[in-house]
Amino acid sequence: MNKLPDFPWDRLEPYKERARAHPDGIVDLSVGTPVDPVPAIVQDALAGAADSPGYPLTHGTRALRESAAGWLARRHGVTVDERDVLPLIGSKEFVAWLPTYLGAKRMVFPELAYPTYDVGARLAGASAVASDGLLALGPERVDLVWVNSPGNPTGKVLPAEHLRKVVAWARERGAVVASDECYLELGWEEQPISILHPDVCEGSHEGLLAVHSLSKRSNLAGYRAGFVTGDPVLVKRLLETRKHAGMIMPAPVQAAMTVALGDDAHADEQRERYAARRALLRPALERAGWRVDHSTAGLYLWASNGENAWDQVSKLSEIGILVAPGDFYGAAGELHVRVAVTATDERVAAAVRRLQ
Ligand SMILES: Cc1ncc(COP(=O)(O)O)c(C=O)c1O
Repeated sequence: MNKLPDFPWDRLEPYKERARAHPDGIVDLSVGTPVDPVPAIVQDALAGAADSPGYPLTHGTRALRESAAGWLARRHGVTVDERDVLPLIGSKEFVAWLPTYLGAKRMVFPELAYPTYDVGARLAGASAVASDGLLALGPERVDLVWVNSPGNPTGKVLPAEHLRKVVAWARERGAVVASDECYLELGWEEQPISILHPDVCEGSHEGLLAVHSLSKRSNLAGYRAGFVTGDPVLVKRLLETRKHAGMIMPAPVQAAMTVALGDDAHADEQRERYAARRALLRPALERAGWRVDHSTAGLYLWASNGENAWDQVSKLSEIGILVAPGDFYGAAGELHVRVAVTATDERVAAAVRRLQ
């Protein structure tokens, strides 16, 4: 294992303190944690399965796997066999451990990226390249390529054409492509597409994994619920390892997730909440001198006023708004801040007033 990075959020503490001192309180747009209720049907399913004395299956119940496969077919035009669905205890643990599961020695992740891809490389003792340009990588072997569309932190969507090239590049080299699709249902000006969609992978899931999360779609960040699917051979290998390692989703959470993936009404409702918040925050930032780049999907506005990221964090903290500096996600983010649209309507309205 290579040394793990310092936890970057600690560096934000002084700005958090300053934002908290605002007379009307802090508007925390830094983390992107869901704030709206867990849908009642999902809470009921969790409670209904509270009496679960026995060990659950690492592979999950058949009902859960069928619900996941049904959701992918219904909402995303992706066909998978229920046997190729594997529940995750939230997607973060899987992002962190996938390179270790695969025995990856060298991997690639986006230039601006969710920090856990890098953590995963370090846990596996793998070397990692943060790059969006696979063609410039040279002849050295690559075992794993991460893509993330819509992306965190930029809200950028990778079109089918781009994903097709990534798949072709990886297949020529025998590399696995893992696609982090945790914001897939949150397309705004652009609609994201899954790596497993036939327009991308031409019907073959060989060498491909799609990682999904219920955290944002169904406000289940607190339940820890996600799943991975794709190449049947890879999923089988992952299942074997996870069985040995005890990576088992609790039975009540399995029951809750089964119901959440079977219902679209609550997800559409949640989508509308985020759309409304985004429609207020984006123009407010623009009127206050920020430019919003990419951000056509997902839960973040990738914004810049041209100054150093930390100066922007500081300026916004003075009016009680906390955002994340872009360099948390890679050196290329040094002139941006990431603004999450996950605060309550009341807090978003407060931010809009303060930005005037
Ligand atoms: C790109 C990306 N992947 C994965 C995750 C992890 O989500 P969870 O562990 O809640 O499923 C996040 C969380 O914000 C994320 O932004």
